[in-house]
Amino acid sequence: MALRQKKPLDLTPYKVPVHIAIIMDGNGRWARRRGLPRIAGHRAGAENLRRIINACVEFEVQILTIYAFSTENWGRPESEVRGLMKIFARVLDQELDDLHKQGVCLHHLGDLTGIDPTLQEKVRNALKLTKNNTRLILNVAFNYGGRAEILHAMRKMLADNISPDELTEEMVSSYLFTRGLPDPDLVIRTSGELRISNFLIWQAAYAEYYPTPAYWPDFGREELYEAIIAFNQRHRRFGLVAEDS
Ligand code: IPE
Ligand code: IPE
Ligand code: MG
Repeated sequence: MALRQKKPLDLTPYKVPVHIAIIMDGNGRWARRRGLPRIAGHRAGAENLRRIINACVEFEVQILTIYAFSTENWGRPESEVRGLMKIFARVLDQELDDLHKQGVCLHHLGDLTGIDPTLQEKVRNALKLTKNNTRLILNVAFNYGGRAEILHAMRKMLADNISPDELTEEMVSSYLFTRGLPDPDLVIRTSGELRISNFLIWQAAYAEYYPTPAYWPDFGREELYEAIIAFNQRHRRFGLVAEDS
């Protein structure tokens, strides 16, 4: 079978964000539009994730953080939650070797306790196998909530007897699941929603937000390229005065 030729997308004149974070939303609506069950949308979403990881490697993005399952998503119907867990397990089984060969280093953001022990084991193995890879850091926010993350950090700081005088913003960052990594430059949300939904609420304080109407399974390599171009048109001021004002 002839491979479909990929359209060359040149990013040479542009600054590629070091860290891109994505709220992968709209799987359910993607499926509904096709008269399919929601779970078919989640399957299509998982396949798309593979394409986006490849595109991040191609575009030389250094860190990709994806929102895969939130602490709030437990409230969905049990059958959907079960289906999602099955998809995560299958993606790990099927993709881990390739991701490792590709030089992807997996990190987990969130809480593994409360997850099915077999899946926990798969995640731990994946983290261990890929820990020395350097091509792309892939943070998977799974059973993740921004508030839960901050609460977890506060509890650890208290347990470490950090005194109020010692406490700095850098120290808080060092207690988060993203410790040691730079904050996201660009946060993409698919499906047209304009909310953060408890994602990286500390780390994305100064990220550029890019909402797009595309449902997640339709957000491919070219759409990611467009998002990077749009990022280049933003003027990040970080609270300062623009140079040309
Ligand atoms: C995102 O798609 C996937 C997860 C939250 C796990 P949704 O399932 O939220 O899709 P919509 O928003 O219902 O279309
Ligand atoms: C955010 O999407 C969570 C993930 C993408 C994993 P949701 O679909 O759960 O968020 P809301 O309900 O629209 O805020
Ligand atoms: Mg949604």
